[in-house]
Amino acid sequence: MRRNLLHLIISTISIVLVYFLMILFWESPSGKLSRRAQYNQDRLPPHSLPVARGSVTLSDGSYTYHLNFSQFQLEFPYLQTYRCSLTLTPHLQPEEEMATKLLLMAIKSHPSSGARRAALRSTWARRWEVEDYRVKPIFLVAETEQRGAMEMVRAENEEFGDILQWDFTEGHHNLSLKERCFLEWLHLRLPHVAFVFKGDDDEYANPEALVLYAREHDAFPQTLHGHIQYDTRVMREAKYRISETLYPFHRFPLFLSGGGFMFPGTSVLPLYQASQKLPVFPLDDVYVGFLSLAANLTYRNDARFIVVRREFNPCLYKLALVVHGIQSDELVKIWKEVQNACCKAAPPNGKC
Ligand SMILES: *[C@@H]1O[C@H](CO)[C@@H](O)[C@H](O)[C@H]1NC(C)=O
Ligand SMILES: *[C@@H]1O[C@H](CO)[C@@H](O)[C@H](O)[C@H]1NC(C)=O
Ligand SMILES: *[C@@H]1O[C@H](CO)[C@@H](O)[C@H](O)[C@H]1NC(C)=O
Repeated sequence: MRRNLLHLIISTISIVLVYFLMILFWESPSGKLSRRAQYNQDRLPPHSLPVARGSVTLSDGSYTYHLNFSQFQLEFPYLQTYRCSLTLTPHLQPEEEMATKLLLMAIKSHPSSGARRAALRSTWARRWEVEDYRVKPIFLVAETEQRGAMEMVRAENEEFGDILQWDFTEGHHNLSLKERCFLEWLHLRLPHVAFVFKGDDDEYANPEALVLYAREHDAFPQTLHGHIQYDTRVMREAKYRISETLYPFHRFPLFLSGGGFMFPGTSVLPLYQASQKLPVFPLDDVYVGFLSLAANLTYRNDARFIVVRREFNPCLYKLALVVHGIQSDELVKIWKEVQNACCKAAPPNGKC
């Protein structure tokens, strides 16, 4: 009887002891969760901002631009009223979400461009770790009538977790919605991202050079980087036509070429705020130009954002941040040659 009691006491004590040790040393998933909640709380969870679009008058010092909201509503009602609604979201690893140095590469793509995305994934659009940065690619897509393409995109996201998709239809003017909705997603989902690279799916980009560039310029929270389009005349014909009733002026304010540009995470909120107030302009790169003018952001031009394709030279490409206008089959070849090239002036990994 006494032996039984002793036995009971000893086993109770050891169970309690083991339990204590487990609490002390075992990192439970719920412990991780609460730390993450804490982390997010430190940064105050962001909310989507109320929409308050209306006419605005902007000035860049040389010119004044008036955007008449009623006219935008008449000519492009959908752009003004669409509420960003996601159908697919990329998978972000906890290390990525929590990384203080995250470079997000956001690549505009059409659902049916699966071959382009495959070429990009086999070259530069992969997860990278460069210096103290984590690099994560995602593709920004909308919808299409082609059922096969929609299913392909869904399957790709299952496998690669790199698709961000909204429920509007792909189209030239709707590209501005990708800009607007991407800013909202960034604000809500990745408010602490260090840098964002925006690109297209028909180009060469250089993650290593982009990270080095980000590290060099991270002291400028209000500056966007890319190839500046100066003094662009408004076209009244063809693909980029803008009616005089929508926009009677002859010029656009400065904007960055859409083929590849970069902005710091600190500029996301002011850009997003502007996007909730300004009429949505039907040309995506010009639209971002208006947003940054309204948000008082500045630009830095850099020749390494190559937005018009240049003849292939592996050492030039090794230094370039982006080269626009390269098709999938070529890209895979070019990428290999650049990786194997031995150049005098190149980022650290590129030297001989
Ligand atoms: C704005 O556009 C509307 C609709 O076309 C027009 O009636 C109005 O006069 C315009 N306002 C200005 C200030 O141009
Ligand atoms: C934009 O998307 C909407 C909704 O899906 C669609 O009705 C519209 O035709 C699209 N516009 C263009 C220019 O493709
Ligand atoms: C933009 O900057 C100018 C000059 O620095 C300042 O006067 C103006 O108030 C700023 N506007 C906004 C919206 O921050």
